[in-house]
Amino acid sequence: MNIIITGAGRGIGFETAHQFTIVKENNVIALSRNISELNKLASQFSKNKSCGKLFPVSIDLNKKGFEKALITFMLEHFKKVDILINNAGSLVNKRIEKLTANDFDLMFSVNAKAPFLLIQSLLPYFGQPSHIVNIGSMSGFQGSSKFPGLSLYSASKGAIGILTECLAGELKSKKISVNCLALGSVQTQMLAEAFPGYNAPVTPSGMAEFIVNFALSAHQVMNGKIVPVAFSTP
Ligand SMILES: NC(=O)c1ccc[n+]([C@@H]2O[C@H](COP(=O)([O-])OP(=O)(O)OC[C@H]3O[C@@H](n4cnc5c(N)ncnc54)[C@H](OP(=O)(O)O)[C@@H]3O)[C@@H](O)[C@H]2O)c1
Repeated sequence: MNIIITGAGRGIGFETAHQFTIVKENNVIALSRNISELNKLASQFSKNKSCGKLFPVSIDLNKKGFEKALITFMLEHFKKVDILINNAGSLVNKRIEKLTANDFDLMFSVNAKAPFLLIQSLLPYFGQPSHIVNIGSMSGFQGSSKFPGLSLYSASKGAIGILTECLAGELKSKKISVNCLALGSVQTQMLAEAFPGYNAPVTPSGMAEFIVNFALSAHQVMNGKIVPVAFSTP
């Protein structure tokens, strides 16, 4: 399988890229700005013939034209995409009095606009069938408890959820499925920076295992869904 995952330099994305690459048949493009850990992982995998191939690429999703750079890189490694995981995320924890227009642009750019541009640019390359998994958040799930300081983050995650529902309908005829996972808290750097001292019930590798299995098979039974992946109700 040919897989592209964004936000793979650390946290949930790193673990997801790792778990996909363990499988020999997989070719994984792992995108982040900082790819130092990914490069180390790729060199370990390159020595193990029973694993797949990992191709790290340093790209800023907030930079104009990023999607062209990714397509150029992708075509050096494969011509068809089976799974795209839009996992990269940006979180600025500030109350409304402190939030700026730049904070708005950053979060909507990384969390909603970049996934849109990536899906749009990859349209000619998606296999039939293929699966796009957008990583949302419980904070952007309708009716969930909302936290002070996360208004724009949550709104941008709400946007990726609705984009998922819309694109699933549009892309159905091309056999491209689109689903969104609204994640609950996972113990990563993002969480630790936003909520110092909070202990999440799920590890990045535990969540990665769920994402990998979901990406491989959920499109056989669902499309256009925003799925809560959390202990909270909702
Ligand atoms: N952890 C949680 O509790 C939780 C809960 C709900 C949803 N989520 C979502 O799950 C996803 C993964 O989160 P995480 O907790 O693993 O966060 P993380 O540790 O902060 O990882 C986020 C990833 O996104 C990448 N990224 C951020 N801005 C980028 C940009 N402009 N261009 C390219 N890459 C960029 C970062 O890499 P670079 O800095 O190297 O670019 C990093 O690899 C995010 O979408 C997050 O919103 C997390």
